[in-house]
Amino acid sequence: MVKVNENYLKLPGSYLFSTIAKKVAAFTEANPDKEVIRLGIGDVTQPLTPTILEAMHKAVDEMGKAETFHGYAPDLGYAFLREAIAKTDYQKRGCKVEADEIFVSDGAKSDSGNIQEIFDLSCRIAVTDPVYPVYVDSNAMAGRCGDYDQKQEKWTNVIYMPATAENGFVPEFPKETPDLIYLCLPNNPTGTTLTKTQLQTWVDYAAKVGAVILYDGAYEAYISEEDVPHSIYECEGARECAIELKSFSKNAGFTGVRLGYAVVPKDLKVNGTPLHSLWARRHGTKFNGAPYIIQRAGEAVYTDAGQQEIRGLVSYYMENARVIREGLTSLGFEVYGGVNAPYIWLKTPNNLTSWEFFDDLLSRANVVGTPGSGFGPAGEGYFRLTAFGTHENTAKALERIKENYK
Ligand code: MLT
Repeated sequence: MVKVNENYLKLPGSYLFSTIAKKVAAFTEANPDKEVIRLGIGDVTQPLTPTILEAMHKAVDEMGKAETFHGYAPDLGYAFLREAIAKTDYQKRGCKVEADEIFVSDGAKSDSGNIQEIFDLSCRIAVTDPVYPVYVDSNAMAGRCGDYDQKQEKWTNVIYMPATAENGFVPEFPKETPDLIYLCLPNNPTGTTLTKTQLQTWVDYAAKVGAVILYDGAYEAYISEEDVPHSIYECEGARECAIELKSFSKNAGFTGVRLGYAVVPKDLKVNGTPLHSLWARRHGTKFNGAPYIIQRAGEAVYTDAGQQEIRGLVSYYMENARVIREGLTSLGFEVYGGVNAPYIWLKTPNNLTSWEFFDDLLSRANVVGTPGSGFGPAGEGYFRLTAFGTHENTAKALERIKENYK
């Protein structure tokens, strides 16, 4: 008899951003005259830059001629893109990563959801709390998280590592020993990060306990401070214990284009088995390669002009981060993040729960944010605003927040 994957039935509610979208849709239906400003999901608003567009147009034209047409892409990625990534994102920074250790994908969300497949179901995961929901949900779907405890809002077989204002958003090493450690730095949702010295202690810890770190560096382009590492491979020993996932969404505005990559160093082995060959096997079986047109767009990101243009995008969004951070601080809010990341993490006012503040902000200021509790129990009492809006909407949102929460 056919049976569904019952692990799906254990998942609480719907995916966080779908829940928010439904709530906002209900609000706009009931209040058609209200103009809602969305600073919830971290989706970019600025168009693709000229160098990237030009590369895409050129690739589209190539696809229209027999002599330059491209069919299936190599499933691990075109060499031109893998080499550009290795050179610019790693070798220029002194990190030893080779082009054939880079696996091009359709985005970091897919990679962060899929990477767990190459590990045994018995592996215990450790996540920071709050955390990007995909890490936990994808492991729960695989059956690795135990049961969901509604009361505690936690999975019984997940190790949670709280990152709150009390510990300066630096999680402590867990008491129980994890097999897989998810770290997202700069962090989504808190917008905070670790120094290189702090990250090194995590690499040393993973090496000591024999764990693998799954390092999500999707927000790396937003790092503005000197002592913050741009890659986990800046840390000694990381090639033996860490996989790094990167995205073109937040730096180059590819949320609707879809491109990302994973670095699986050849030195990374579990009980003698190289994870590189496992991920290559998985990728080759389940993925037919990111589209040629998109990989050419990705290559353009690494040209001098492309790099300059994406720095412009990052500065644009970081100006929003400054406006939000300074505006909220002047109102007396307790505010974190927004310096090395495009997210601002705030304590909800008047002891409101995260969802109470979501409703309050939406109904009074018509501004949408993301409730901290949606990212995990330690996110309760916090709220996330994104800096990915337009300058105009961000300024307007702040004006409305000032009027309603002075
Ligand atoms: C977020 O808002 O947390 C991100 O946009 C989600 C994502 O990148 O998938």
